[in-house]
Amino acid sequence: MKKEALWVFVVVWGITCLCGSRGCREQERVALLALNATLDLTYRGDTGGSYFNCCSWKGVECNPTTGRITQLMLFNSRYGHFGPKTWYLNASLLLPFEELKSLQLSSNYLGGWIAPKGGFSNLMELDISENAVHVVAIAEGIKNLSHLENLYLDGVHLKDVGTVMRALGALSSLKILSLQYNTIEGTIATQDFHNFSKLEQLILDYSSLNTTMGILSSLGPLTSLRFLSSYSTGLSGKLSYQTWLLENNTKLENLLMANNLFATLEVPLITPCNLSMMDMSNNDIRGELTTEFCLNVPNLYHLNLSANKLEGNIPSELGSIKSLSILDLSHNNFSGELPIQLLDSNSSLYKLNVAYNNLQGEIVFSGNTMNLIWLCLQHNMFTGDLSFLSSLVNPLLLDVSNNFFIGKLPKLIANMSSFMLLDLSKNQLSGLIMQELFNLPRLEYLALSDNNLSGSLALSFIAPELRHIHLNGNKLNGSIVHLLPNRSNLVTLDLSENEFFGSIPYWLGNLSQLSILLLRGNSFYGTFPMQLCRLKSLSMMDLSENNLFGPLPICLGPMNFSSKGYADKVDSAPHFEYANQVSSPCSYVRTIRRWIYDTQFYHNKILLDEGWEVQHIVGFTTKRRFDAYKGYALLNMIGLDFSYNHFSGEIPPEIAISQDMLMLNLSHNNLTGHIPMSLSNLTKIESIDLSYNNLIGSIPEELTQLISLEVFNVSYNNLSRAIPNKNQFGSFIESSYYGNHLLCGLPLSNDCSTTNNINCSATKSCTKAKEDGFIDGETFYISFGVSYTMVLLVIPVVLFINPQWRQGWFHYVGLVITTCRSLFITCYYFVEDGFQKLSSGPTI
Ligand SMILES: *[C@@H]1O[C@H](CO)[C@@H](O)[C@H](O)[C@H]1NC(C)=O
Ligand SMILES: *[C@@H]1O[C@H](CO)[C@@H](O)[C@H](O)[C@H]1NC(C)=O
Ligand SMILES: *[C@@H]1O[C@H](CO)[C@@H](O)[C@H](O)[C@H]1NC(C)=O
Ligand SMILES: *[C@@H]1O[C@H](CO)[C@@H](O)[C@H](O)[C@H]1NC(C)=O
Ligand SMILES: *[C@@H]1O[C@H](CO)[C@@H](O)[C@H](O)[C@H]1NC(C)=O
Ligand SMILES: *[C@@H]1O[C@H](CO)[C@@H](O)[C@H](O)[C@H]1NC(C)=O
Ligand SMILES: *[C@@H]1O[C@H](CO)[C@@H](O)[C@H](O)[C@H]1NC(C)=O
Ligand SMILES: *[C@@H]1O[C@H](CO)[C@@H](O)[C@H](O)[C@H]1NC(C)=O
Ligand SMILES: *[C@@H]1O[C@H](CO)[C@@H](O)[C@H](O)[C@H]1NC(C)=O
Ligand SMILES: *[C@@H]1O[C@H](CO)[C@@H](O)[C@H](O)[C@H]1NC(C)=O
Ligand SMILES: *[C@@H]1O[C@H](CO)[C@@H](O)[C@H](O)[C@H]1NC(C)=O
Ligand SMILES: *[C@@H]1O[C@H](CO)[C@@H](O)[C@H](O)[C@H]1NC(C)=O
Repeated sequence: MKKEALWVFVVVWGITCLCGSRGCREQERVALLALNATLDLTYRGDTGGSYFNCCSWKGVECNPTTGRITQLMLFNSRYGHFGPKTWYLNASLLLPFEELKSLQLSSNYLGGWIAPKGGFSNLMELDISENAVHVVAIAEGIKNLSHLENLYLDGVHLKDVGTVMRALGALSSLKILSLQYNTIEGTIATQDFHNFSKLEQLILDYSSLNTTMGILSSLGPLTSLRFLSSYSTGLSGKLSYQTWLLENNTKLENLLMANNLFATLEVPLITPCNLSMMDMSNNDIRGELTTEFCLNVPNLYHLNLSANKLEGNIPSELGSIKSLSILDLSHNNFSGELPIQLLDSNSSLYKLNVAYNNLQGEIVFSGNTMNLIWLCLQHNMFTGDLSFLSSLVNPLLLDVSNNFFIGKLPKLIANMSSFMLLDLSKNQLSGLIMQELFNLPRLEYLALSDNNLSGSLALSFIAPELRHIHLNGNKLNGSIVHLLPNRSNLVTLDLSENEFFGSIPYWLGNLSQLSILLLRGNSFYGTFPMQLCRLKSLSMMDLSENNLFGPLPICLGPMNFSSKGYADKVDSAPHFEYANQVSSPCSYVRTIRRWIYDTQFYHNKILLDEGWEVQHIVGFTTKRRFDAYKGYALLNMIGLDFSYNHFSGEIPPEIAISQDMLMLNLSHNNLTGHIPMSLSNLTKIESIDLSYNNLIGSIPEELTQLISLEVFNVSYNNLSRAIPNKNQFGSFIESSYYGNHLLCGLPLSNDCSTTNNINCSATKSCTKAKEDGFIDGETFYISFGVSYTMVLLVIPVVLFINPQWRQGWFHYVGLVITTCRSLFITCYYFVEDGFQKLSSGPTI
């Protein structure tokens, strides 16, 4: 059988060869098949790979002219058949691949490398990352690869770093050494590192470098080093070792040490260094940025010192670094003015970010700047008007929010068609908003919130690129009913806290991408427009504090309140691509860094700097707080706020729009009927506020299934019977239930058992106290005294006059006697309440 098969195979192979197929050589194919005993090799399904042409197997690359295999990408190839078992690679199997240049064996549970004598003279690149256990064995195994230039050993645990480094030191051609995401332990001696003299790039990102200060200083002068990256490694202390790097490694061009804990920034004075890119962002660097520093980095192209603790003035000498193109000094404590040299028309700067400092003064350019396209000045104390904008020739992104800029929006903005992001919010700008702003062809994000802008809005055309409009917190007025904009791609429309009136326009229903619609705090009048039910990707709707009336919508059911679509939108909108670089806009916020233990890809603790979120702020009230939701936090924010209107009728079950809903606020309306059972379907809900309505019936026991519920408020309704107290409901406080006369049980102080389900409510919950619903003892006794006297005087009089009331009264008294045996005070309130009901009876 086997022999026959072999013959067939040889014949077919011969034919294939004769026909001039560019398959790999037979000896290489046989070697691959042998390798298939230890690694899962597969055919490339999509490109018609075949058994005979192993160049078209998955992960196999050949030289197109010689047909020899040059690259084997066999990462993550032991899942199928072999499972998570450590194994040793007999590297002799690879010897037939004489022209192999690049071998990738990451994520294969490789425990060691059994080296043959000789061979591999062409191998230049080896990736053996994420092969957990026996790194020493691997390093020992590969030390004869004398031509190896690039070695990737990421995501491993370097338990005995000295031994590993000694072995790697034998790799005399090594140019790139990548040790990212490693945990490193052990000690090393200087002599372990004689042979790293050709090393050009050392990448230590995300490794926990408890000993790396040691490692680096024992490396000896890395005289070839051009690129050093140790992002998020936990390095700390003085930069004396960095000084050493710069002094004795004159070729160093890129120094990337963001996200560590360095405390000082020093550059040696003797020789100007050749640094081109320096990223020391997110460290702990204190003190001033010195003139000396600026003079010693004459070739600097990119300087990022963001998120440190630098203070003092920004030295004007930065402006004399002719090559400086990207400067990020944001999130420090710089004060004084922005040096005019930086704003020089000759400057090469194209990105300037000084946001989140204490800078002041007016922005003045010396002339038109051709290069500057990215200007972030937000969260400072800049003053003056925005006339400097006329100096920007091709601005892409401008964020001046949170400053003290005054005056009108300059007319010329209307013609600045290059803008993609324009954020002028939180200043003192006044005057009108020109219609043209909504027409800028590339603008994606427009924020003019929290200024003093006035006038009415002209939205008759919204450019297709424009995704986010924030106009909240101004004095805009008028009706927007008749604007009828074309179909647009708006994702966010925030018009809250203005003076708009008229009805909520039907055309909002045409904005098919709309996810966030905020109309809070205006004077919109009328009923809920059913056209809004066409908004299939809505995730947040806030109509609170308006004059809306009529029934709540029942058409919301089919709405797709899904955060997924919105994720794409948030993601795509505020990130910009420029010169093949994708960057987030300058407005990011710093959040806490944290270590995570990433078991899926790396076997290590890694320091995650997840906090650099895009700032896309939307204010929303939930859990009793008004919060600004930013960036990705918004993705999960699904909710409805219809509070402080005059909506009436029953709460439709359809209001439980989506299982993903986090908040529902229907408070301060005129709603009647029962609490719908459908709310128990909102399994993620955190906040439900139904207070200040006229709801009746009991609180559905089913709501206790909502274990995410943190805030529940049904106060000031007419609910009755026992309060459920399972799960979350055990933790809600009295104020959640105030003002419901017939509710009983904890946390209220009246007991259900004695009252046969129709209980008089206890003290506070019975009072008709306004808003805060709480009266102190003194007020209580005074009002009690007064009321009591009144009751004694008035009841007989009233009863005497009106026989119908008299009948009702005695009925009530009967009830009172049977149900309120325990508390005199309670009974009093019950009586008073009964009296009030009687006096507003139909006979009047
Ligand atoms: C590798 O071996 C498996 C069985 O162990 C087989 O299914 C697969 O087809 C082989 N791959 C190639 C490319 O021959
Ligand atoms: C490695 O493979 C070669 C050739 O296939 C063989 O001669 C040698 O014995 C193997 N070594 C080990 C340790 O298995
Ligand atoms: C490395 O090569 C030398 C000489 O070529 C040989 O003596 C030694 O055994 C080899 N080491 C390994 C681990 O293969
Ligand atoms: C350093 O490399 C040289 C050859 O370039 C070699 O002779 C020497 O053994 C190496 N030293 C170490 C410590 O590996
Ligand atoms: C660093 O290593 C030393 C000894 O190896 C140990 O005592 C110390 O706790 C480690 N520090 C950190 C922050 O892991
Ligand atoms: C730089 O190298 C010189 C000569 O090798 C040495 O004397 C000096 O100490 C080194 N500088 C630092 C900061 O290590
Ligand atoms: C400095 O860096 C530039 C590239 O940024 C390079 O061309 C030049 O050779 C370097 N100079 C020295 C002295 O290393
Ligand atoms: C500067 O560094 C911060 C944090 O490391 C980063 O978020 C920001 O994008 C960088 N700035 C530039 C202009 O690349
Ligand atoms: C920032 O600098 C000012 C002086 O310019 C100082 O009063 C303030 O304390 C500093 N803030 C921080 C957080 O260091
Ligand atoms: C800018 O360039 C002009 C001419 O190109 C020159 O006269 C002027 O001095 C330059 N300004 C600075 C600050 O270098
Ligand atoms: C609630 O509705 C009643 C009539 O049903 C009306 O008299 C009252 O003014 C409404 N209250 C509010 C706050 O709209
Ligand atoms: C909860 O949702 C399911 C399906 O989504 C539905 O069949 C059921 O009627 C809902 N329950 C209530 C009480 O609305």
